[in-house]
Amino acid sequence: MTMTTFTRRLALLGTVFGAALAASTGAQAQGQLTVYCGVQEDWCRPMVDAFEKATGVKVSMIRKSSGEIYAQVKAEASNPRGDVWWGGTGDPHMQAAEENLTEEYKSPKLPELNEWAVRQWEQSKGRAVGIYSGALGFAYNTKLLAEKKIDDPKCWADLLNPKLKDEVQVADPNSSGTAYTMLATLVQIMGEDKAFDYMKKLHANVNQYTKSGAAPAKATSLGETTVGIAFLHDHVTMIVEGAPMKAVAPCEGTGYEIGSMSIIKGAKNLDNAKKWYDWALSPEAQKLGAAAKSYQVPSNKATPIPPQAPKLSDIKLINYDFAKYGSSDERKRLLTKWDKEVKAQPK
Ligand code: G6P
Repeated sequence: MTMTTFTRRLALLGTVFGAALAASTGAQAQGQLTVYCGVQEDWCRPMVDAFEKATGVKVSMIRKSSGEIYAQVKAEASNPRGDVWWGGTGDPHMQAAEENLTEEYKSPKLPELNEWAVRQWEQSKGRAVGIYSGALGFAYNTKLLAEKKIDDPKCWADLLNPKLKDEVQVADPNSSGTAYTMLATLVQIMGEDKAFDYMKKLHANVNQYTKSGAAPAKATSLGETTVGIAFLHDHVTMIVEGAPMKAVAPCEGTGYEIGSMSIIKGAKNLDNAKKWYDWALSPEAQKLGAAAKSYQVPSNKATPIPPQAPKLSDIKLINYDFAKYGSSDERKRLLTKWDKEVKAQPK
């Protein structure tokens, strides 16, 4: 090797090391962020990647169901490990807000949001904001239903059909915000006594209470259960992928979620949490949902509504009382009652 080649190589090496060093100190300068992600893993990942790319902040992400994130935030309250809680149903976010587990924050993006997303922010006294919404429903596997010669279920009441014994799957409302939305929806439609009677009867038809809310949609697509209860957009994800499934908005009416975001009280990376918060309310970030086959209605008015998203105007939606069913006392009371009166029942 001649001296010039050697010097050139050395210079090149210097540039490479220099760039690597700059990149690492750059990332350090931008710092870290820990996100507790409450949507599907397939959507959490591209969000993290895009945010890291846009800001240089290094993100650690943990994906869990809504009730589980709430429990983790509460357990860590004296030494918070998470910075921002992004996604999952609104009720546990509301409960965390009431229990002073999350921070107030007024994003400059608020004026760009739909009224329902801002209402969530107002009702939580500035601690949770709406990022998407979607209606609850069920879906059936068309092949299995035909094989079992069962009439198409159209209403919540049809899920009590004895022919559906062990053929219905739904999540556990303690861990899953989806299943808690169902519990609160039934109470609002039927009244508490009738709703609990209904859930006790449905228990005979339930083959499994899953941890995550969207798991029953996947199980229906795979033919592991004939009926799955989940958000309609989670069923649509499976249908778009070719699953032999039909999604149903129940005839009696149904509830919906305001998927939410909160900053965790005592966040160690507060500035980056705010950076994520503002960015996550932007159309560029919200568009990543549909790209990841998550078909909720986004909260920013300028984010296109994915054509696959179930049309909320075609669904008989109840006037879900988020303040009441997201309140700490009510959520605790209903979950304890469900454990005692529904889950503990023999089959
Ligand atoms: C899925 C849905 C979300 C929903 C979430 C709740 O990811 O696509 O819209 O917020 O489930 O999850 P959980 O497991 O708490 O029911």
